[in-house]
Amino acid sequence: MLLPLLSLAAFASTSIAVKPIHSHNDYTRAVPLWTALNLSIMSVEADVWWQSSQLFVRAVLAFLLLVAHTSGEIDKTKTLNSLYLANILGIINGTISSPTPISVANPLQLLIDFKSDGPTTYQPVHDALQALRAGGHLTTYSNSKLTQGAVTVVGTGNTPLASVIAADPRDIFFDSDIRHLYSTKPGVGLEWGPEISPLASVDWSSVSSTAQMQELVRNAHDFGIRTRFWDTPSSVSTWNTFWAAGSDWVNADDLLAVSNAWGIFDSTVGPALKALEAEG
Ligand SMILES: *[C@@H]1O[C@H](CO)[C@@H](O)[C@H](O)[C@H]1NC(C)=O
Ligand SMILES: *[C@@H]1O[C@H](CO)[C@@H](O)[C@H](O)[C@H]1NC(C)=O
Repeated sequence: MLLPLLSLAAFASTSIAVKPIHSHNDYTRAVPLWTALNLSIMSVEADVWWQSSQLFVRAVLAFLLLVAHTSGEIDKTKTLNSLYLANILGIINGTISSPTPISVANPLQLLIDFKSDGPTTYQPVHDALQALRAGGHLTTYSNSKLTQGAVTVVGTGNTPLASVIAADPRDIFFDSDIRHLYSTKPGVGLEWGPEISPLASVDWSSVSSTAQMQELVRNAHDFGIRTRFWDTPSSVSTWNTFWAAGSDWVNADDLLAVSNAWGIFDSTVGPALKALEAEG
């Protein structure tokens, strides 16, 4: 595989140590979290709906955060807690065994896609994370300090930026729009950075060229923010183009295919890069 030197240089700027793969909408799989963890893919996504019309007491609020792609598909046995949070806590605390550990050294990025109204859904999501929070397992921003935890929670979809910013300590972060990092501010007197937005994304259809994609990746990295393009074609050549540009999280549904593609890319481009560095 021949890649231009420029691409190799860009690849060097990829800032994650784990496989640069994000498992998109993995609740559609029979065993959602596990398909990713079995392949050491450390970024997963859950779509959540808050059904406020039901009368449940606060103690079981987490069970109302139902995981589904559209509200018509809601299966009330599938909750954010049962599919994700309980398993994640168990893997961290050693009561559930996992092929891939989740730890500060090998953290999991959990994207929570707010499908229902943002401000209404924020507090139930915040509450559902309480066990992980109480265990000290969440990446947290407090007193101007960002502390890496075993799990970094990033809100996407309808996640309300104002609630994210207002939280102190902050442990739900915000998936920003990669196109607007230079042209907008997250709030008065604030700048974009990983303490608000460790991840910036955009729909692939609104990016016009590979060159623009590479520029967006560089822009995000200027802010210390990692990148993700979604709704991309599911092909090895597309994935390779993102990795060559240093894009951090390749968004994919076919995890085995993307994982195999990364293995090949990493074993060809990685050594080529080291050889280049050795030549000085
Ligand atoms: C994950 O791996 C475990 C053990 O390695 C296996 O029992 C389980 O079936 C796998 N699950 C999936 C969804 O691949
Ligand atoms: C460990 O995780 C399990 C599974 O989520 C949970 O039931 C248990 O309460 C946890 N224990 C501690 C000490 O966090």
